[in-house]
Amino acid sequence: MAKRYDTILVLDFGGQYCHLIGRRIREEGVFSEIVPHDIKLDEIEKLSKKFNIKGIILSGGPASVYDHNAPKMDHRLLTINIPILGLCYGLQLIAKSFQGKVKDAICKEYGITYVSIDKPIGILEGLKKREKVWMSHGDTVYELPQNFEIIAHSKNCPIAAFKHIKKPIFGLQWHPEVIHTKNGSKMLHNFIFKVCKCKANWKIEDIIKKMISEIKNSVGEDEAIIGLSGGIDSSVATALAARAIEDKLTAVFVDHGFMREGEPEEVKKTFEKFKLKFILANTQDRFMQKLKKITDPEEKRKIIGEEFIRVFEEKATSTNIKYLIQGTIYPDRIESGSSKNSNKIKSHHNVAGLPSNIKFKKILEPLRDLYKDEVRKIAKMLCLPKKIIERQPFPGPGLAVRIIGEVNEEKNRIIKLADLIVREEIEKEKLDKKLWQYFAVLTDTKATGVKGDARAYGYVVAIRVAESREAMTASFSKIPFSILEKISTRITNEIPEVTRVVYDITHKPPATIEWE
Ligand code: XMP
Repeated sequence: MAKRYDTILVLDFGGQYCHLIGRRIREEGVFSEIVPHDIKLDEIEKLSKKFNIKGIILSGGPASVYDHNAPKMDHRLLTINIPILGLCYGLQLIAKSFQGKVKDAICKEYGITYVSIDKPIGILEGLKKREKVWMSHGDTVYELPQNFEIIAHSKNCPIAAFKHIKKPIFGLQWHPEVIHTKNGSKMLHNFIFKVCKCKANWKIEDIIKKMISEIKNSVGEDEAIIGLSGGIDSSVATALAARAIEDKLTAVFVDHGFMREGEPEEVKKTFEKFKLKFILANTQDRFMQKLKKITDPEEKRKIIGEEFIRVFEEKATSTNIKYLIQGTIYPDRIESGSSKNSNKIKSHHNVAGLPSNIKFKKILEPLRDLYKDEVRKIAKMLCLPKKIIERQPFPGPGLAVRIIGEVNEEKNRIIKLADLIVREEIEKEKLDKKLWQYFAVLTDTKATGVKGDARAYGYVVAIRVAESREAMTASFSKIPFSILEKISTRITNEIPEVTRVVYDITHKPPATIEWE
């Protein structure tokens, strides 16, 4: 990197929101790099040749600081004069390092909490007396380390934020990177600009150049195949790869039979116009066969992940094709547990669902550190069709993970119809632009009904409508009852096998957006 950007390093302790911190910093126009939690002081010194390191953030993480295998940091980082901010686990680690005490909280806090700002200084400058924040912690600091002062507290957490009295070291028990913390971006802004004195000299265009040259350098004289689903991620990855290696790229669209109604035709129509080698793989029977009798969601995802790879291998007929490119984005990786200390939430088909024996020399994932809305911004800059940019996210395993339990032809037909009705009604009301996802789930529960004066016993369909910015957290949408009524009436009238429709009113967390 020629330009030495002002940079904030984020030490990854395995928290679900670690990369979100990096992304919030990028939103402020400042570069940020995620590094392993145990990075050594001399490695940081080496990195300083490339980046102008102005601050360090210690992320949250699922461990407890007293766990036997708790992730640690090089304590020397706390003695150099670079500003440090610890978030959640990061705060607890700072407390322990300076001989404070941490213990299992009596009242654990998950979700929205209100904190009282005792001293609106440094990172909390300009905040109100009472702030709405988002917490997710089991442990709490109960004895302040020497030379620290409390700057905020909550009802269940007397030490919710602290600062060193002399050094630029801060800790917050809550997560400013999560949008539910109302003034979270102000807190991070304070840290970046007021505490670390960064200059905003980074822009998203810089990432595009970096990704294109990365693909070009990796593929070299060889060729690559890309898995194209027509969704935003794989479409952007395709557009970048096409710029990088042009006609050495083959795009394969796998129609596994679990796409939404009308989708395979639409994807084909869109991408046939692009200047690239496009292959449509009709593999519906093969996927259905492989999923017979499979009820466990993790097993389903792994089977689908493996089958995708096998299809790509079969379609890579030229011996020059040595690379597979995927549109994997950051949330796919973190939920699949790919960071050293993070828990696996689910095996996204393109990450933890991948088989271990793969014919390709390497899998390239140019979007691996980005979030969906950043990918959308890049799609706009690459002038991709509006239809692709605005398309709601759709999981790679498709409707197979929206049919709870075993899939079969009948259930696949029902879910496609129900999904189409949900889409039509939401789009008719022009709600689609403000929603993250809206879809139907075919549950494995049956319920009694009465249709035309006769008893009916049929499927229960659930409707999921989520609002989110980047899928790491989401809220169920409070769409008007009148729309839900139309959806429910149409589904029960138009799909005879369904007797009941329910609305999912769970946020993420604790639920995930998809049901499986
Ligand atoms: P969850 O359900 O974990 O999903 O809240 C977060 C976002 O990711 C999508 N999703 C997937 N995407 N392969 C994908 O490409 C997968 O296996 C997968 N599982 C979930 C989901 O639709 C949501 O937008």
